[in-house]
Amino acid sequence: MPTNYVRPEIAAMAGYAPGEQPQEEGFIKLNTNENPYPPSPAVVEAIQEVLRRGLQKYPDPMANRFRRAASEVLGVPSDWILCANGSDEILTIVTRAFVGQGQLLRLPYPSYILYATLAQIQGARYQEVFFQPDWTLPKEFGLPTEDLRLVFLANPNSPSGTMVPPDVVRALAERLPCPLLVDEAYVDFASTNCLHLVAENEKIMVSRSFSKSYALAGLRFGYLVAQPHIIHELVKVKDSYNCDALSIAGATAAILDQQWLRETRAKILAVRKRLTEGMRRLGFQCVDSEANFTWNTHPARPVRPMYEELKRRRILVRYMNYPGWGDGLRISVGTEEQIDICLQHLAELTEAPGPR
Ligand SMILES: Cc1ncc(COP(=O)(O)O)c(C=O)c1O
Repeated sequence: MPTNYVRPEIAAMAGYAPGEQPQEEGFIKLNTNENPYPPSPAVVEAIQEVLRRGLQKYPDPMANRFRRAASEVLGVPSDWILCANGSDEILTIVTRAFVGQGQLLRLPYPSYILYATLAQIQGARYQEVFFQPDWTLPKEFGLPTEDLRLVFLANPNSPSGTMVPPDVVRALAERLPCPLLVDEAYVDFASTNCLHLVAENEKIMVSRSFSKSYALAGLRFGYLVAQPHIIHELVKVKDSYNCDALSIAGATAAILDQQWLRETRAKILAVRKRLTEGMRRLGFQCVDSEANFTWNTHPARPVRPMYEELKRRRILVRYMNYPGWGDGLRISVGTEEQIDICLQHLAELTEAPGPR
């Protein structure tokens, strides 16, 4: 279709580029923060049961089975929960509901690149507020500004893996004149979270993902927790059947298996420590992470050639370059074996001593 039929905002934008998903087998894949372990066996059983019963009927538009299960696990009423096709869809729904054309969306920088893309699609303006060098937020992030309609905060943040403590988030929301979406895609790997703030302040909403901690990136499921009058409005914006029957069944089984989550989390946190210490031994500056990845910069050597050479050796990490901030390697926490191989190759590339 000729571009002149397309809205000018869309024609002008580059579009979000997701992390590379190689079509060939054989890569050690540490570039999109997937979980290296298979999901709970209960997920597979639940999906097979749906397949046995058949897919001829539409799914429940509100995914109530999941909402009831999540309500038990999280300790929030089920009408405070909105389900979606991945937490990315939650971000889309929230942007569409709160930010009109030409209005303002605020984002931290560097952070999840999709936030800016969502503003562009909406024809909205966005303001990127730089983190301070220690990954804390400057005062201006909470500044009330005319036309400000929504603020996104990835917590833990990507690419840094750092967190803004709940008390700071609470104070931030109190100052802001608009809703604050706390994107907790990685929070199951962290030591704290902001869920309890949702009941305190209607401006605070929390989104979560099943792609990382529950090892279900391929299933596409995420949810939002917000006060029920807000959920009521957001439902109007979503597609009627935004979650399919397989993902509802799979995510319900996943959230009910908290024992699996605890065990998987413990393994990932142990390997995260190994990765962090290994990268520091190789001379990288590696930020303490509360997520399932680490952010690594090098004080003396360019990192892009390292990314390229690792890729040639079939190890995929994420090279990120943030104009005005700098570049680095974001490395997902894989299995212990995958991380040791990655460290070994990086040792060769940096000519530093390898892992012990
Ligand atoms: C900060 C952040 N939020 C949300 C998402 C999207 O997750 P989902 O797979 O649930 O759409 C990602 C995925 O990488 C992310 O990094």
